[in-house]
Amino acid sequence: MNGRSPIGQTILITGANTGIGRATSEELGRRGARLYLACRSEAKTQPVIDAIRRENEGAHVVFLPLDLGDLDSVRRCAEQFLASGEPLHVLVNNAGLAGQRGATKQGFELAFGTNYLGHFLLTQLLLPRLRASAPARVVHVASDSHYECKNLDWESLARPTRTFMATKEYEISKLCNVLFGAECARRWKGHGVRSYSVDPGTVASDIWRKIPWPIRTVMKRKMISTQEGAHSSLHCATSADVADHDGRYYALSGHDRAPSELAQDPTLARLLWEKSEEWVRAWCDGQPGE
Ligand SMILES: NC(=O)c1ccc[n+]([C@@H]2O[C@H](COP(=O)([O-])OP(=O)(O)OC[C@H]3O[C@@H](n4cnc5c(N)ncnc54)[C@H](OP(=O)(O)O)[C@@H]3O)[C@@H](O)[C@H]2O)c1
Repeated sequence: MNGRSPIGQTILITGANTGIGRATSEELGRRGARLYLACRSEAKTQPVIDAIRRENEGAHVVFLPLDLGDLDSVRRCAEQFLASGEPLHVLVNNAGLAGQRGATKQGFELAFGTNYLGHFLLTQLLLPRLRASAPARVVHVASDSHYECKNLDWESLARPTRTFMATKEYEISKLCNVLFGAECARRWKGHGVRSYSVDPGTVASDIWRKIPWPIRTVMKRKMISTQEGAHSSLHCATSADVADHDGRYYALSGHDRAPSELAQDPTLARLLWEKSEEWVRAWCDGQPGE
C-alpha cells in the first residue's frame, strides 16, 4: 500500500465487531478497502458487515472466525484466509481484552495469550501472503499502559492470571505488542512488509466491561470516542507519512514517540520472539515462518 488510499487493498482486522476495531473497519470500508473481519462471533460481527455494506455499495466485507485464545482457532483462521487466494496488504492486530482473569485454551495467561501470543501466530502464518502482496503493513494495537511494565517474568506468561484485577498482566501483554512490533521491523527489513505499534488513547469502548456500572459510565464520559481511538491504527495502516518509519510506536496524536526503555530492548524482543516460536510450535503442526 505504501501510503496510498486503501481502495481495492485487502485488510484483515481482528476484533472488528466492536470498539476501536469496528470504528477502524467502518472507516476503511468508507475508503474502499476489501475487508476481512476476524472475530469470535459471527452474530456479533454481522451488524458491522451490514453497516459497512449499507454505507458503501458493493463493499467486500467477509467474516472470519477467530478466537485468539485458542491457537488451533488462530491456525484455522489463517488457513481460511490463505485459501481465499486474496492478497493481504494490511494486517491490523487489534483484538484485546483487559481486566479478565484466566488462561487461554493452551494454558497461557489470558491477556498475554489473547492480546499477544495469538496475534504472534496469526502474523507468522499470514506473513508469506503479506510478503507476496508487498508493500504491506502490520499494525499492532498496543497501549501506553506498556510503560508501567518494568520486567518480563517468563514463567508468569505460561500460567493463569495471578493478580486480582489482571492489570499487571494487561501491561505485560501490551509491552509484548510493542516488542513484537519492533522485532517484526528488524526481521522483515528489505522484504516489503512494515510494522508499527500504536497507542489508541483512552477510548470509551467495551474494554471496560468488567468495571462495575455506574463507575464505568462516569469514567467513559472522559474518554475519547472509538472513532477517535481508531485514528492511530488508520494512520499507520494507510498514511504515507509513516512509510519510512518502520518499527516505530505511534500515539493518538499521529506522531511517533519513544516507547518504554524495556520496549526498546532488542535482546528482550529477540528472546520474546524465540520463546513465542517455541510456545506456538508446541501446539501447532508445522513451523511458523520468520
Ligand atoms: N479502550 C482503550 O482505552 C484502549 C487503550 C489502549 C489500548 N487499547 C487496545 O485497543 C484494542 C481494541 O480494544 P477496544 O478498546 O476496542 O476493546 P473492545 O471494545 O472490548 O473490543 C475488543 C475486541 O477484541 C475482541 N476479542 C477479545 N478477546 C478475543 C479473542 N479471544 N479472540 C478474538 N477476539 C477477541 C473482542 O471480541 P468480543 O466482542 O467477542 O469479546 C472485541 O471485538 C485492544 O488491543 C486494546 O488493548 C484500548
